[in-house]
Amino acid sequence: MSKTIVVAHQKGGVGKSTLALNLAYRFSQEMKIALTDTDPQGTLIRLKNIASGLNIMTHDEAKKNNKKYDVILVDTPPYLSEKIPTIFSEADFVLIPTKAGVPDVMAIDATIKLFKEAQKNNNKLLGGIILNMVKPRTSLTFFAKEQLYAYNIPILGQIGDRVAFNNTFLSGGIFTSEDSQAKQEIELLATEILNVLK
Ligand SMILES: Nc1ncnc2c1ncn2[C@@H]1O[C@H](COP(=O)(O)OP(=O)(O)OP(=O)(O)O)[C@@H](O)[C@H]1O
Ligand SMILES: [Mg+2]
Repeated sequence: MSKTIVVAHQKGGVGKSTLALNLAYRFSQEMKIALTDTDPQGTLIRLKNIASGLNIMTHDEAKKNNKKYDVILVDTPPYLSEKIPTIFSEADFVLIPTKAGVPDVMAIDATIKLFKEAQKNNNKLLGGIILNMVKPRTSLTFFAKEQLYAYNIPILGQIGDRVAFNNTFLSGGIFTSEDSQAKQEIELLATEILNVLK
């Protein structure tokens, strides 16, 4: 039975697609992965014939063939689409990326509300918040963490603001880059998620 990991936050541009893509590259080193795009922008589905070695498809396609995959990794749009409650209700893990900016952290409320709502009927559902695009030496990160602790959802470390991540859409993922810190951050995030799902 495959595990479903959903990357969601209603705020645009927080790194949902970037993290979904790089986690897919990382997980596919050891597992069979379906990467699904439920965002009408089609950020990931457009990479279908470019991202070598990844199985990128619609969410329905992955669900139909779920026995073929160990993990279904789901990218979602920057708004609370009507599909989200169903996707959360079938998921094993929701990863909520956020930037450490004040508007980003404030916007997280609605996504967390849906996540907690889904947990009431889906008792296997776990989740975590990941701070993304963290700039060095900023007190904003401290502010963001203070706000996020209140939600009582694990905070899974952080991902730096690194040019290497901008390049991952066309370069074959962070593991083809020279940025060892960026690689380590994705490695740590992947390990944390897999440990929780075991
Ligand atoms: N850690 C990072 N460091 C630097 N740039 C990043 C990082 N994460 C994402 N980006 C860049 O930020 C932009 C937005 O990222 P991405 O498209 O993944 O966000 P998103 O949440 O999927 O956006 P949308 O809500 O529009 O789907 C992209 O240009 C991406 O390359
Ligand atoms: Mg996206």
